[in-house]
Amino acid sequence: MENPYIPFLMRIEDIILETEDRKIKTFVLAFLNEEDRKGFTYVPGQFAEVSIFGKGEAPFGMASTPTKPEHLEFSVSTIGVVTGALHNLKKGDVVGVRGPMGNGYPLDTFKEKNLLLIGGGFGFSTLRSLTNYILHVTNRPAFGDLTIIYGARKPGLLLYKADLETWKERPDLNLHLTVDQDADGWQGHVGLVPNVTRTLAPSPKNTFAVVCGPPVMMKFTLPVLKDLGFNDEDILFSLEMRMKCGIGKCGRCNVGSKYVCTDGPVFSQLELTRLTGEAHF
Ligand SMILES: Cc1cc2nc3c(=O)[nH]c(=O)nc-3n(C[C@H](O)[C@H](O)[C@H](O)COP(=O)(O)OP(=O)(O)OC[C@H]3O[C@@H](n4cnc5c(N)ncnc54)[C@H](O)[C@@H]3O)c2cc1C
Ligand code: FES
Repeated sequence: MENPYIPFLMRIEDIILETEDRKIKTFVLAFLNEEDRKGFTYVPGQFAEVSIFGKGEAPFGMASTPTKPEHLEFSVSTIGVVTGALHNLKKGDVVGVRGPMGNGYPLDTFKEKNLLLIGGGFGFSTLRSLTNYILHVTNRPAFGDLTIIYGARKPGLLLYKADLETWKERPDLNLHLTVDQDADGWQGHVGLVPNVTRTLAPSPKNTFAVVCGPPVMMKFTLPVLKDLGFNDEDILFSLEMRMKCGIGKCGRCNVGSKYVCTDGPVFSQLELTRLTGEAHF
């Protein structure tokens, strides 16, 4: 991309309504230009700025996996101007995309390690990307045990129901779904993500914990992981600060001396403590 402020064009191929409250939709985007597709190589955990012409742009994590490079997927929660405008678009409409941006998850560091992925809300999107990347037949042997703890307030607010059904059948993935309150027919856990994590007590041995979700969930999961014996360098968070340029120019997204858009959004607890002290959520 020559000018990093100029987006390339993508067409909306599909729109999946994810949640029963209609607040989160996944947009499946196809590149209009084959050269743009070839140039867009990313790792799970990275994000892109999606623009709605005449409205503005906003950052969203890639929910798709690099192992399926023909599409990009973004799961968008409608809260304001850009996200509201995106929710009003239809199949065939064209949006702009700048990216990929940020550091993403450290895949090389994860090799031969066990992974504990903990998520909630739209933050689960990049953990979905990471999961589907790891489960790909060519990648799975490089990683150890994979455990997921994923929660929502109620079953109808869980994202990616088709993926969840597929993942349940995988013998090489421990999937724990939880809802805040019990519901008819629900067969998973009941309780908040931090409490379920404490009850399940996953081992910290040779394991990275990757946490992505609402700030309150990340805040209360941290002490649980520390009590379980996870070291600060083995606990990773993905942050969702307000952003503007996405490329380290505007100074909008700093955390201590670093920018979330270029140095993050993925930081270890050790890095965050050095940058901000303990109170970073
Ligand atoms: C790295 C990164 C990845 C992200 N990934 C996703 C994703 O996958 N899916 C998704 O739905 N969202 C994601 N977000 C958040 C998303 O960018 C914001 O929700 C979006 O910018 C809001 O734009 P808007 O124009 O609709 O809201 P605005 O009209 O600008 O704001 C509406 C209201 O929301 C508040 N708000 C806006 N942005 C944020 C924010 N980042 N944090 C807290 N409050 C905010 C505003 O203060 C205001 O009250 C991500 C953010 C970052 C930085
Ligand atoms: S968003 Fe501009 S510096 Fe990060």
